[in-house]
Amino acid sequence: MITRETSPGKTVLVFDTPEDLAVHAARSFADYAAQCIRKQGSFFAALSGGKTPAKFFRELAKLGEEFEWEKIHLFQVDERMAPADHQDSNQAMIRESFVEPAGFPPEHFLPVPVQMDDAALAAQAYENSINMVLESVPSRPKRLDMILLGIGQDGHTASLFPEDPEFRQASSWVRSARSEHHAHQRVTLSLSFVSAASKVFFLITGQDKADMVRQILLETSPSLPASLVWKNAQQAVMALDRAAARAYLQIMA
Ligand code: 6PG
Repeated sequence: MITRETSPGKTVLVFDTPEDLAVHAARSFADYAAQCIRKQGSFFAALSGGKTPAKFFRELAKLGEEFEWEKIHLFQVDERMAPADHQDSNQAMIRESFVEPAGFPPEHFLPVPVQMDDAALAAQAYENSINMVLESVPSRPKRLDMILLGIGQDGHTASLFPEDPEFRQASSWVRSARSEHHAHQRVTLSLSFVSAASKVFFLITGQDKADMVRQILLETSPSLPASLVWKNAQQAVMALDRAAARAYLQIMA
């Protein structure tokens, strides 16, 4: 593994394979959860969707015995407004690769209410639900402890799309979004809510993401959603496999 602190609070990790990355990321997630629980008595995290994190979730499920589940609440970073059993559903992937195999209490995983027809109303309802869960532990800060993210080749993260003129909107924690390049209307955590988290953890694999990784880390495209999250994060880790790190490592060699 290659470890590089690119700036204060920003660490890049490069693993030989997606499998090595998933094992390490699961270990890091578990350790950070335990650290937060020791420190504040709870651990609140949001989980991304797409294809990349499934391996990580399956590795995390293997560590199930270690967790004080009743002190942990998990949310979604974003969701496609498709039925909860649809092949594109992020919550279906999270349930299948983590919640069920880990024996995680389903009532501690708060999915986006995709059964609502209107994405904007679903976003508002989700924000209210997140707030209620945060209020249920009055002692803790009104932000998440960790947000797990992927990136798209276009520099999106969560469902914050570069072509969406509203993606920087900061008046809410959760908003609806849509992109002609991506299927389904979306519900997503807002840029400001993601940026307020204590720690952001990017999981990125594959050659197709290499150029965007280079742009983010070398700050050549600073206005992209993924670049803004990386730059604004209080603490951020970018875990890459060698394929996704290739362009960046070539320049930094
Ligand atoms: C989604 C995600 C999205 C994802 C990236 C990468 O719902 O699609 O939240 O932001 O993380 O598009 O997706 P892959 O992991 O499938 O490449």
